[in-house]
Parts: sequence; structure tokens; C-alpha cells
Amino acid sequence: MQFSNFSAMLSPDDGVLQLMEDLGEALESKSDTMMLGGGNPAFIPRMQAHFHQEMQALLDKENEFESIVGNYGGPQGQQGFIDQLAEMLQQEYGWSISRQNIAICNGSQSSFSTLFRLFSGFFPDGNTRKILLPITPEYIGYNNTVDPSCFESRKPEIYDLPDDLFFKYGIQFKGMEIDERYGALCVSRPTNPTGNVVSDEELARLAEHAKAVDIPLILDGAYGLPFPGILFTDATPFWNEHTILCLSLSKLGLPGVRTGIVVANREIIDYVKCSNAVFSLSPGAVGPALMTRLIKSRELLDLCRDVIRPYYRKRVDQTIALIRETMGDLPVKIHKPEGGIFLWLWFPDCSIENADLYMLLKQRGVFVLSGSHFFPGLKESWQHARECIRISYTADFDQVSRGISIIAEEIRKGY
Ligand SMILES: Cc1ncc(COP(=O)(O)O)c(C=O)c1O
Repeated sequence: MQFSNFSAMLSPDDGVLQLMEDLGEALESKSDTMMLGGGNPAFIPRMQAHFHQEMQALLDKENEFESIVGNYGGPQGQQGFIDQLAEMLQQEYGWSISRQNIAICNGSQSSFSTLFRLFSGFFPDGNTRKILLPITPEYIGYNNTVDPSCFESRKPEIYDLPDDLFFKYGIQFKGMEIDERYGALCVSRPTNPTGNVVSDEELARLAEHAKAVDIPLILDGAYGLPFPGILFTDATPFWNEHTILCLSLSKLGLPGVRTGIVVANREIIDYVKCSNAVFSLSPGAVGPALMTRLIKSRELLDLCRDVIRPYYRKRVDQTIALIRETMGDLPVKIHKPEGGIFLWLWFPDCSIENADLYMLLKQRGVFVLSGSHFFPGLKESWQHARECIRISYTADFDQVSRGISIIAEEIRKGY
């Protein structure tokens, strides 16, 4: 069969495909796999109890559940949820938001293709523009949502930190000119895969640049603020008329309901709404229905602060302790964990490159992700990109612990 050029975007060597296949394989496999590769949030019993409770309330209310699952909604998403969210964002953060500034989509992932296409490629004024990722490593899921030539990205500054085990990335503003070559900027905060949190100052600088050339700053808050708030450092929730804030219910513990949220100016929201109508008629209603009361009562923000954040803080500390124990005598480094559900391990000058390490580990039942997938748009070859891997620390402690011991064994051979 002949396939169009579009098939190249769905190429089998795409990192996302590998990741999702690994996840499926590990879930179905009866063997003792150690899944440190996936992006699944942890099963947090207290959060799950709340989700049960909310679902039960929907089931108990006459016709509520039937109407949620029995009707297509409008293309913007459930108005009751949108209104409560707009009110919360307005009241808690002083953002100038109304229901026209919010659209729901089927997972925030599904919004990226629309947003990147709106702001890159050919424009009616005859120009072509790209999406600038001001700092890599950056989220693997942006790859292939548009033609890869639509991305341009920058290497980070690398800072040593007083604790030898840690390093930190920062945005390299020097030499970064943001002009008409770009249609939008995009950063994830916290960053998947590194756990970096772009600081308030860095964000303010990016936002100023974006405003100065009248382009949007796409701020991917899948792990961030205001929810789920998986942050271990100080950071302020951010939005303005030039910002497109992409949020998600997934990392609260609900990836199965596939609910993403786009907060942006009205013109952009109208396009997202239209994209929903064209590509999926309307976004799903179950996720919004589960969350509406928790948003209205602000319990959601309390749960993020009192349950979700401490849970991940504890897990990340445990995982770092394991790494110190098993690899502390090697030149291994970890990006300072400032948020998110991953650790980014750097093996400077190790003789095993990350793509080979991925295969070696997979053969031993440990799934990680090779760091080389996380540099979308970076044209130059960079040794550092071949020296890092991403591990998730959300699987049960026994799996993480056995996985880390095996990573340590392989890396030790490499050194
Ligand atoms: C940084 C980042 N953004 C967006 C997403 C997409 O999440 P979802 O489509 O589940 O909302 C993910 C998923 O892992 C992610 O890591």
C-alpha cells in the first residue's frame, strides 16, 4: 500500500511509541518487569478514595451519570466544570479569566498538535515560523505532533550544585533572539524528563519576550501549577493573555479519563474548540464531572498540597537514597529534583551510551527511557544527550529498588 507523507510522523522509531509499547508490554507481561520507563502517576490511596467518592455521588444523583455518559457535550467541554475552574483561577490567582478562556480536550497531549500547528509552518503573511523550545531536554510527547522541522530548540546551561550528586539546568538566554522566525515558545514546568522547574524569573523573561513579538508562550503544566502541584521548590502559578497554559487531570491520578485543559485568550480557545469539533466532536465529560465539586470547594488545591506533593516528595527522597547507596561511588549525577515524577540520571563519560543501556536494561526486565529522545529540535550533536536516561519513581518501591540495583550494575561495568 502507498502511505502519504503523514506516515513519516507515525514512524516506528518514535520515542513515544516505544514508551507506550513498553508500558503495554510491562502491564501485560507476567514476568517480573521493573517499569521505570512510563509516565503513569502513582496510585495514591487517599486520592483514589476521593475519586471513588465523587463517582459514587454522580451515580447516586438521579440521571446525573446517565446524562454525563449518554450525551455528547459541546466542543468546548462541560460548562459547569469550566465555570467553576474559571472562578477558581480568578479568585485564587487574580487571573482575568472567564468561561471563554478555557477549553477541555481529550488529554493535554491532544492539544499540542493543534497548538503547534496553529503557530508553526506557513503563515498567510508569506512567512514560515517555528516553535522555539528555549530549553532542552524537553518533553518527548512534542515530537512528531507536527513536522519535526517546525521545532527549534536550545541547549541548557548546566550548573554544578554544592551536593556533588546533583546538577541543574537553566535557560541560556545569552544569544537567544526571539523574533519573527518563531510562532510560539513552549516549556514544560516542571519539565518532563528532568524534574527541572523553570524559575519565576526565567518564566517572566520568556513571557516578556513572547509579548514583545506578540506570540504565545505555551506553558505545559501537566505536573505543575495550580494542579497537580508536584513541585518541591518555590514557584508561582503563571498566566497572562499571551500565555497558553495546558493543564491535565492525568497526574492527579486520572490518566484513564483523558482530560486536558487549555487556558488561553479567547481567540485561541475558539480554535481549540473548533479543533475538538473537527477531530473528536466533543471532549469527554467524565473527568470534568469527577472534578467539578472538588474545584468548587477548593478541596482539590488542599489535596495537591497535603496529599499529592508530600507523597511524591517522600518517594523521590527514597529513590535518591537508593541511587546514593548503589552508585554513590561512581561519577553519576542526578538533575536536582524540583518537581514531576521522574529522575534524570547523567552518566558523564560512561562507555555505554544511553540507547545501548536502554537495550541492556530491557533484556534484564528494567524499562527506562533513553535520554536521546528528549531533544526535539536540537540540530547539533551533543555527547551529553547520549549520557542521560529518564527513570520514573512512581512504581512500587520494590520494583524501583530492584531496577536501580540493576542500573547500577550495568553502569558500573560501563565505568
Ligand atoms: C510534560 C507533559 N505534558 C503533557 C503530557 C500529556 O498528558 P495528558 O495527555 O495525559 O494530559 C504529559 C504526559 O505524560 C507530560 O509528561
